[in-house]
Amino acid sequence: MDESQIWDTVDAYFTTHLAPDDEVTAAALRDSETAGLPPVNVTANQGKLLQLLAEIQGARTVLEIGTLGGYSTIWLARALPADGRLVSLEYSPKHAEVAVRNIARAGLDERVEVRVGAALDSLPLLADEHPPPFDLVFIDADKANNAHYVEWALRLTRAGSLIVVDNVVRDGRVVDADGGAEDVRGTREALELIGAHPRLSGTAIQMVGAKGYDGFALARVLA
Ligand code: SAH
Ligand code: DHB
Ligand code: MG
Repeated sequence: MDESQIWDTVDAYFTTHLAPDDEVTAAALRDSETAGLPPVNVTANQGKLLQLLAEIQGARTVLEIGTLGGYSTIWLARALPADGRLVSLEYSPKHAEVAVRNIARAGLDERVEVRVGAALDSLPLLADEHPPPFDLVFIDADKANNAHYVEWALRLTRAGSLIVVDNVVRDGRVVDADGGAEDVRGTREALELIGAHPRLSGTAIQMVGAKGYDGFALARVLA
């Protein structure tokens, strides 16, 4: 077995026993694929991790940046109480349309609102509504803007909130400081902002699995 094959096999084993897809999450993936969405959703294992993190947070409110077909949205929203709220921001009307259907089939449409537009346009509008602080923010959209998204997350959260950033490794490209890739630049800015910010305490972890070699950054809002 080469390396990535063993990652797949171990992911399949973990997922079977710990984070199996059910009819609703499987249908969300199937319909996303049928609609031609790129298969860049989190894995089931990672979705379960997001659900657990939201549960550990006791989250009542979640902000997601980057909905795609709503797969991570469903895992996160399942952690919420019946009167909880998740706002998910998505640039593509087509992705949002697929997500809204998937979220409705999951019975989560009362808790979840998908807002269409560039997140950097939607975030100031959201802030103008003065929503209650979000307990967890999942950043998973255009990586070039990751530092801006961390800054917005800070404005929309409270002491004790958790910020999670996806795709901070990208096959190790994160250490390619001079490569000129916009996604790597944005992610490095976000990581270095987290590390230097007096109101954040964070770390980053490398992951391997069915979606290759990547990782999450986690940051807790301090004050
Ligand atoms: N969180 C999803 C995957 C998101 S993929 C999951 O794990 O299931 C990234 C998504 O971000 C894509 O749907 C893409 O259309 C969206 N996106 C890209 N640029 C964006 C922007 N500027 N504002 C909001 N969403 C954006
Ligand atoms: C891409 C986006 C993601 O959110 C992800 O998890 C993997 C890949 C992408 O746009 O390539
Ligand atoms: Mg991602």
